[in-house]
Amino acid sequence: MLETIEQTKQQFLLDLSQSDTLDKLEQLRIAYLARSGRIAALFEGLKSASVADKPVLGKSLNELRSFAQSQFEARKSELDGASKPKETSIDLTLPGRPRPIGTKHPVMQSMEEMKRIFVSMGFSIASGPEIESDYYNFGALNFPPDHPARDMQDTFFISKDVLLRTHTSPVQIRVMEKQKPPVRVIMPGRVYRNEAISARSLVMFYQIEGLYVDKGVTFSELKGTLVSFAKQFYGSNSKYRFRPSFFPFTEPSAEMDITCYICSGKGCRVCKYSGWLEIVGSGMVHPNVLKNVGYDPELYTGFAFGFGVERPTILRHGIDDIRLLYENDVRFLRQF
Ligand code: DAH
Repeated sequence: MLETIEQTKQQFLLDLSQSDTLDKLEQLRIAYLARSGRIAALFEGLKSASVADKPVLGKSLNELRSFAQSQFEARKSELDGASKPKETSIDLTLPGRPRPIGTKHPVMQSMEEMKRIFVSMGFSIASGPEIESDYYNFGALNFPPDHPARDMQDTFFISKDVLLRTHTSPVQIRVMEKQKPPVRVIMPGRVYRNEAISARSLVMFYQIEGLYVDKGVTFSELKGTLVSFAKQFYGSNSKYRFRPSFFPFTEPSAEMDITCYICSGKGCRVCKYSGWLEIVGSGMVHPNVLKNVGYDPELYTGFAFGFGVERPTILRHGIDDIRLLYENDVRFLRQF
């Protein structure tokens, strides 16, 4: 009988090794461990054993039963674990995967710095529509009806009278129509020009417009404001100069240049070997413009200025093609 017990054990182990699903394992349990199973049958046979043999046989049968029971349990928990969802294997203490966070676009970085400088000088911020009427974009700004800037070549017309604004100057008119002097605002925004796209020009770009109107505003205040801005934005070492210019909405008009900060004024490709970079158009608000918004030009004077944001941005970062700014290549944008 001892031999039968040993054979049963070997057979059990063999069957166990083939029980690779919970179903098969259950069959195994029924075959060996259940009340009518093979081990129970062996216990049954113990009754007919001799009194002398009983203790030894009883002991080894007991051992077989507990051995089979514990092997069965171990196998069961193994199979149980495998059939459960994997969640028990998630390590909650692992750090999360970082998601890439975008950076501010270089043009917006310049804009914010420019705005900050003017706000610190007492300017507030206003904005106006990008789709404008001919009146705000040109007429109210003292452009004569036949002025070449109105030409189809420069302006995106939506209809005869409606267009995409070509500059932020129309916002001057909108602000003055709503507000009595003193007015001291900057007006940032997008503008559109129907021009060929190149390394130096885009059809959409940002401008910042400035306007200060009050009793007794002078040209020297215009100069002081622009020089102070330039020193803060471009650095205190840069030199500047004012050149006479022409804009229909200012009289007199001037453009301000700063020393080229690529070559420090020695002359290079960027400044076209002049040593100077043109950075802003400006002037004293034309009396006709003041009249158009109902301000008395005998009582009030003012200055205005306007400049693009993209060019200073590319110069500052040494970018040689303005189009890169809007290609949205993250390898480019990540650098700022
Ligand atoms: N609007 C002009 C342009 O887009 C820039 C400008 C020049 C704005 C003189 C002004 C100004 O306010 O006074 O070229």
